[in-house]
Amino acid sequence: MSNTPILGVIGGSGLYAISSLKDIETLEMNTPFGKPSAPLVVGTLNEKRVAFLARHGIGHTINPTEVNYRANIYAMKMLGVPQIVSISACGSLREDYAPGQIVIPDQVFDFTRRNRLQSFFGDGLVVHVGTANPYCEDLTARVYQAVSQTGVITHAGGTLITVEGPRFSTKAESNLFRSWGMSIIGMTACPEVFLAREAEICYVTLAHVTDYDVWRTSTEPVSVEMVVQTLNNNTHAAQQALENLVGLLPEKRNCGCGDALKDTIITNPGLIQS
Ligand code: ADE
Repeated sequence: MSNTPILGVIGGSGLYAISSLKDIETLEMNTPFGKPSAPLVVGTLNEKRVAFLARHGIGHTINPTEVNYRANIYAMKMLGVPQIVSISACGSLREDYAPGQIVIPDQVFDFTRRNRLQSFFGDGLVVHVGTANPYCEDLTARVYQAVSQTGVITHAGGTLITVEGPRFSTKAESNLFRSWGMSIIGMTACPEVFLAREAEICYVTLAHVTDYDVWRTSTEPVSVEMVVQTLNNNTHAAQQALENLVGLLPEKRNCGCGDALKDTIITNPGLIQS
């Protein structure tokens, strides 16, 4: 078996390890962008090597604004990871996406405060990567199949709005996001999804709906207790979905993510004056 992980998993709130990983190596890594949130744990799941990273650190000490997204994605790239599944908690902005269910979104909307570092490039190298379809469609189909096999109600599609946090939304904000057609809300998809595209890594979000945010008048507004309780009930499904997914991954990718940087570099070295 090759030691290069076939899959990277970035675990959000409530997922700080994959319990069924075997033959584990724990890697303290450093990258040109600093240290990732935690040591990367590489182990065997369903006979394939998988790399795991806890986005908020072991013990959940790093808030969404403070996550070093560039170091996290770069560390996965250094290990040779070709595809990443992000497992995150989210609030629902739609009646039919209920707590306890799982959503695999197909779009994101970046509503962060624009102070998260968004790119590996800059400093003399101008790169405009395409993000019209930010999620890998091929990996999305496989993740959908893997999650559906767990029996948890799973929705394919929807727009995930990323807010800055760490606070939850006001009712005015939540209602505005609904009027914009947003489906679910979280705090970490952006810029992680865009950095994965720049790193030419396939990326999909598996979002556990933990609450109805604050717009639904017949439900208590979201609280940390609500999020943690629903996540704890779903941890087993997430672990099972990952085991299923590993068995569904192709040996060779069938998508364009591996060529995402082709024709995106606008800097012309011939015109740079010394
Ligand atoms: N994560 C889980 N629930 C959330 C919510 N309602 N808003 C933002 N992030 C969340």
